[in-house]
Parts: sequence; C-alpha cells; structure tokens
Amino acid sequence: MAEIIWGLATSHVPSIGAAMDHHKTDDPYWKPLFDGYSPARAWMAAHPPDVAVIVYNDHANAVDLDLVPTFGIGTAESYDVADEGWGPRPVPPVAGAPELSAHLVGELVDEGFDLATFHRLDVDHGLTVPLSVYCPDPGDAWPCAVVPVLVNVIQYPQPTAARCYALGKAIGRAIRSYPRELKVAVFGTGGMSHQLAGARAGLINPEFDRMFLQAIESEPEKLAALSRDDYIREAGTEGIELIMWLVMRGAMSDRIARVHDTYHVPASNTAAALALFEDLGEA
Ligand code: DHB
Ligand code: FE
Repeated sequence: MAEIIWGLATSHVPSIGAAMDHHKTDDPYWKPLFDGYSPARAWMAAHPPDVAVIVYNDHANAVDLDLVPTFGIGTAESYDVADEGWGPRPVPPVAGAPELSAHLVGELVDEGFDLATFHRLDVDHGLTVPLSVYCPDPGDAWPCAVVPVLVNVIQYPQPTAARCYALGKAIGRAIRSYPRELKVAVFGTGGMSHQLAGARAGLINPEFDRMFLQAIESEPEKLAALSRDDYIREAGTEGIELIMWLVMRGAMSDRIARVHDTYHVPASNTAAALALFEDLGEA
C-alpha cells in the first residue's frame, strides 16, 4: 500500500525560484533564506518519495479568471512549466503520476469532493518553486513524479479552511488506500503573510505567522476553524494561501514529528517559511 512519508509546507514566492535560476542564493539578500532551508533539504534528500502530491494555486497562468474551479487535480502524464511572462523557468518538465491521479479522483469524488480534472496543465511558480525548495539541482529531471492539486485562493469566495482540511483528510485516506508500494510526500504551498496590492500592500504579520507555524503541527483544528475573513485580515489577501497548508496537514497522520522549520522576512513582499514534518503513521 502507498504511504505518506513526509509533509512539506513552503512559501512559493516567484523570486525564490528566480534567485536559484540566476545563481543569486549566496547574495546577502537571499543567503539567510537559503541557509534556513539547508537542514530540511538534507533530510528530504535522504528520504526521497516516489511521488509528491503538491497542493498549490495557479496564479491565472494556466487557468484564466473566466473559469475558476474551487478544487482541481492534474491527471496528465506530464506538465510543462508555464511561461509567466519572462519565458518558462529553466527547470525540467514535471512528470505526472496518472495512475495515482486517477485513483485520487475516484476516491475523492466518491467522498463528495467534486474536483475539476486537468488533463493538460502548465504549472506555474506555485508548484515549481516548492519543487526547487525540495530539490535545488534537478538536472534533467525532477527526482519524483507529481500529482498537482489545485485550490482557488485568488478569487472570492475561496474555499473555507475547514473544507481544505477535510479535503486533506480525504486525500490522506485515498493515498493510503492506493494498492501499490509507493512512498508519497505531500506539499502545502503558499503563505505566509503577504498582500501584493491595495491599501495594505506589503502587510506582514509575524505574530500570526508564528502562531500558525506552531499550530499547524499540533492544533490544525484551531486553524481550520478560522474564517476566510480571519485569514485575509490577519495574513493579507495573498496570505490566505495558508489554507493550502491545511490540505497537507489533513493528509498526514495525527502522529507527526517536526523535522525542521524556518521563517524569514522578507522574500520579495512575503514572509517566507518552510516547515517539514515526518509522518509517523497512524497510532
Ligand atoms: C509574491 C508572493 C506570492 O505568493 C506570489 O504568488 C507572487 C508574488 C511576492 O511576494 O512577490
Ligand atoms: Fe502565490
């Protein structure tokens, strides 16, 4: 049977990817952020998954705003890297895991999560930057296949945090019922606090971020009980991306162990964090 071996929560700021692509990770601006990643990267490299289920949002790159599914899942053999206006990032295309995708779609629809299915999907920074956080030097190919799970966090009304947590629980059950030996990692991407436009552009809320970074491990229900307005007020219009961490947390067992975390302000306009958890399995 498939098993979840770890969960990674990470910001997906585009310029974190650009810093890697343009060899600027040792610049004074970027070095503290990347130094913070190092212990997690070493641990993940020693515990490679076969497949990563990456919970992310498209930023109107592959999916334009005429049609916004609340939840979606990629079912393709492979995913091209999106051109977000500067040409695609110089990273490999993303191999899919279509059999696992098909299993997840079936199980999730049967559980009442009517996801949109993407048979073709160009993946933007929301997915490729977290892959680069996991694996900075992929060479010709990423070290694992990927199932993209999409969440609408950019257009009102975003799904509730509680619904995201419940989706994660269903994804966890679906992964654990997949009848093949497969090591799976689950990524929750986006956050932490940030707001890119409007009167509160530049908002950072370290108190909220620190609370969230702690509670995601041991009190996810508390975070799932917060409203859409709570997230936007406390973390900013883009900080609501944090609801995607709850999908990751929901998929993991109740028994997890924190391997490493790091919190750094600023990365571009964002409070950037990484939190890595080992899944210890059901009690
Ligand atoms: C930034 C952060 C994001 O999460 C994003 O999707 C785009 C830009 C930023 O801080 O620049
Ligand atoms: Fe984003």
